[in-house]
Amino acid sequence: MSARIILVGPPGVGKGTQAALLESRLGAKGLSSGVIFRTEIEAETDLGQLAKSYIDRGELVPNGVTIQMMLKRLRTEEVRRRGFVLDGFPRTVRQAEALTDELKVEEIHLDGVVSLEVADDVVVGRLAGRIGCTKCGEIYHSVNKRPKREGFCDVCNSVLVVREDDKPETIRQRLTVFRDTTRPVIDYYESLGCLLKVPADGDSEGVYRMIVEGLGID
Ligand code: AP5
Ligand code: MG
Repeated sequence: MSARIILVGPPGVGKGTQAALLESRLGAKGLSSGVIFRTEIEAETDLGQLAKSYIDRGELVPNGVTIQMMLKRLRTEEVRRRGFVLDGFPRTVRQAEALTDELKVEEIHLDGVVSLEVADDVVVGRLAGRIGCTKCGEIYHSVNKRPKREGFCDVCNSVLVVREDDKPETIRQRLTVFRDTTRPVIDYYESLGCLLKVPADGDSEGVYRMIVEGLGID
C-alpha cells in the first residue's frame, strides 16, 4: 500500500521526525521542502543561494520557486509508485491550492493532512536541543534523543551540527511566520474535510501511533 500524507505544523513540532518514521515503516517517499533547500544551499546552486537569503532570516522562500521545486519531485516515477509524506510543504494557501490542482489533474487521492499541534514553549525546547546529521538527515535531541556517541550520527557516523536557523531570534521569526502564513493552510484543509489534528506533545512513538490510527493506515 502506498500512503499519501501531508504533515503541517510549527517549526520544531516533529514533522521531520514523523516523516522519517512514516517513510521507513510505510515505504512512502519523504519529501521535506526544508531538507531540499538545505541540500541546494550545501551544493551552492542558484536556488540554494536564493533560499538561504530567506531561510537565514526565518522568512519563507517565494511561492513560485517553491511550488515548482516540489511539484517536479511529486511527478517522478518513484514518488508515483511509493506515495509520499510531504513535510513543510505546502505552507502558504497559494502553495496548497497549487498542490490541490496538481493532485486533481493527476487523480491522486490524499490519505489525509496531519496537523501536529503543541504549545510554543514545547517547540522552543525541542529546537533549542536539536542536533542533526547533514549527511543522512537523521535528527537527534540533546535530551530527548541522544546519539550513542556524543556529537556523531548513529547511522553514518558523520559529525552532528546545530542548524543555522535554530538561533533564538530566528526561531521567534519562524513561529511568527507560521502563525501568520501557515495557520491558514490548516484552515484550508479543514474546510476541505481532510484534516486530522494530532496532539504532538507526547513521545515520538505515541505521536506516530495517533497518526497512522487516525488516518486508518495502520
Ligand atoms: P523546515 O526545515 O521545514 O523547518 P521548520 O518547518 O521550521 O521545521 P523544523 O524542521 O525546524 O522542525 P520539525 O517539525 O521538522 O521538527 P523535528 O522533527 O526536526 O524549513 C526551514 C526553512 O525553509 C523555513 O523557515 C523556510 O525559510 C524554508 N521553507 C521550507 N519549506 C518551505 C515552503 N514550503 N515554502 C517556503 N519556504 C519554505 O524535531 C525537532 C526536535 O524535536 C528534534 O531535536 C527532535 O529530535 C525532537 N522531537 C521531535 N519529536 C519529538 C517528540 N515527540 N518528543 C520529544 N522530542 C521530539
Ligand atoms: Mg524538519
